[in-house]
Amino acid sequence: MWHFRLWDVQDVAVFLSITLYMCHLAAGAISTHSPQRSLTRSVQEDVFFSLEVSCDGTPTIQWTFMSGAVSRTIGTWQPGGYTNITEDYSGRVQAFNNGSMGLSDVRLQDAGHYVVTVTETAGNSKDTGFVLKVNEVLYEDLQYLSVSALALACVAALLMLSTWLLDKAYRRIVAWRRRKQMPENDATELQPL
Ligand SMILES: *[C@@H]1O[C@H](CO)[C@@H](O)[C@H](O)[C@H]1NC(C)=O
Ligand SMILES: *[C@@H]1O[C@H](CO)[C@@H](O)[C@H](O)[C@H]1NC(C)=O
Repeated sequence: MWHFRLWDVQDVAVFLSITLYMCHLAAGAISTHSPQRSLTRSVQEDVFFSLEVSCDGTPTIQWTFMSGAVSRTIGTWQPGGYTNITEDYSGRVQAFNNGSMGLSDVRLQDAGHYVVTVTETAGNSKDTGFVLKVNEVLYEDLQYLSVSALALACVAALLMLSTWLLDKAYRRIVAWRRRKQMPENDATELQPL
């Protein structure tokens, strides 16, 4: 009797540990934490996609950009291991060991979805999505407006100046013609005297 019971207990223990292991696998050993998933930046600013990855073994972190039909790999790296940043992004992307990514000098076409895929050694992976909105810089518009206003003012000033010059020239010509006619008139008028 006792013998059987002991076997039961062992079986139950084995069964339980297998169940727990399966649950562990199903739930995924990868956990990611990100304080902010939706970010807004202006053109030329920097953006930091903050992430904290924890998993068994060394994770492989891959960032992908998606916008409409466009999907391109930004880079892949392993904490303390290799880093492979795509040529399009080299110099603008900073890879962090906790999975975070820094993107500098944001452009309008950087707006879209950013997906980070964390893959652990066993092959399980987990995706986390971020959204980036990019605003056009206001001061550039203002600069454009002020330059346009200045150009218009210059054109107006030039027009006014040329009108004034033309008017002056016309007056001078009229005066000169009068003066040219005057002596003749004087002469004819003075002749009888
Ligand atoms: C990830 O690491 C960076 C740099 O050490 C840190 O600034 C950032 O806050 C970390 N992210 C999280 C979610 O802990
Ligand atoms: C780096 O990534 C690109 C694009 O994902 C890939 O084509 C290239 O083979 C990778 N280079 C290395 C050294 O892993």
